[in-house]
Amino acid sequence: MADIRPATLDDLDAIAAVHRAAFGRETEANLTIALHKAGRAPISLVAEDDGTVVAHVLFSPVTIEQGDDGKALGLAPVAVLPDYQRQGIGHALIEEGIGACFVADARAIFVLGSPVYYSRFGFSKASAHALHDAYESGNAFQVLPLTVDGLGDYRGRVDYAPEFAAAGT
Ligand SMILES: CC(C)(COP(=O)(O)OP(=O)(O)OC[C@H]1O[C@@H](n2cnc3c(N)ncnc32)[C@H](O)[C@@H]1OP(=O)(O)O)[C@@H](O)C(=O)NCCC(=O)NCCS
Repeated sequence: MADIRPATLDDLDAIAAVHRAAFGRETEANLTIALHKAGRAPISLVAEDDGTVVAHVLFSPVTIEQGDDGKALGLAPVAVLPDYQRQGIGHALIEEGIGACFVADARAIFVLGSPVYYSRFGFSKASAHALHDAYESGNAFQVLPLTVDGLGDYRGRVDYAPEFAAAGT
C-alpha cells in the first residue's frame, strides 16, 4: 500500500501529472496548481509508492449562502494514476483526507461525485439539508458533517473556490 503524506509545493508537477493521466485532460491539473498557488489548498495529500507520487486529493474552502462560518471544505479533485487504480489507494487517501479535515476543525465536507462511491465514506445527498451546488447536480452533490452539531445553520447554495469556475469545472 502506498504511503500517504501532506503535499508540498515541490510535489506540484508530480500532482499535476497524476491528474492529467487520471482525467485524460488538463483541467484538473491546472485547477490543482491554481488552488495551491492561491493558498486555497488547506488539505492536500499525496500517496507515494517507492518515492513516486501516484495519487492526490485536495480539499479547498467553499462558501455557503446562509450560515457560513468558514469551516466547510470541498473535496476535489481526487485522482489515482491509472496503473494504481482499484487497489484501495483512492479510498485510503480520501479517508486520511477526511481525518485531516476533522483535525483542521472543519465542520463539513462537500463533494460532487458518484453517490455509490462517496456513500462509503458517509457522504449523503446535500439536498436533504436544503443545500445545493451551482450546477444543479442533484443527488451527486453530497455532504459529510464532521461535528456533533452537524451542519449548523448551513442552507442554500454552496460555491467552490473561484479557481473552479476559472478552470471550467
Ligand atoms: C475515482 C478514483 C479516485 C478512485 O480511486 P481508486 O484508488 O481507483 O479507488 P479504490 O481502489 O479506493 O476503490 C475502488 C472502487 O472505486 C470505484 N471506482 C474506481 N474507479 C472507478 C471508475 N473509473 N468508474 C466507476 N467507479 C470507479 C469502484 O466502485 C471501485 O470498486 P470495485 O473495484 O469494487 O469496482 C480513481 O479511479 C481515479 O483517479 N479516477 C479518475 C479520476 C476521477 O474520476 N476522479 C474522481 C472525480 S473528482
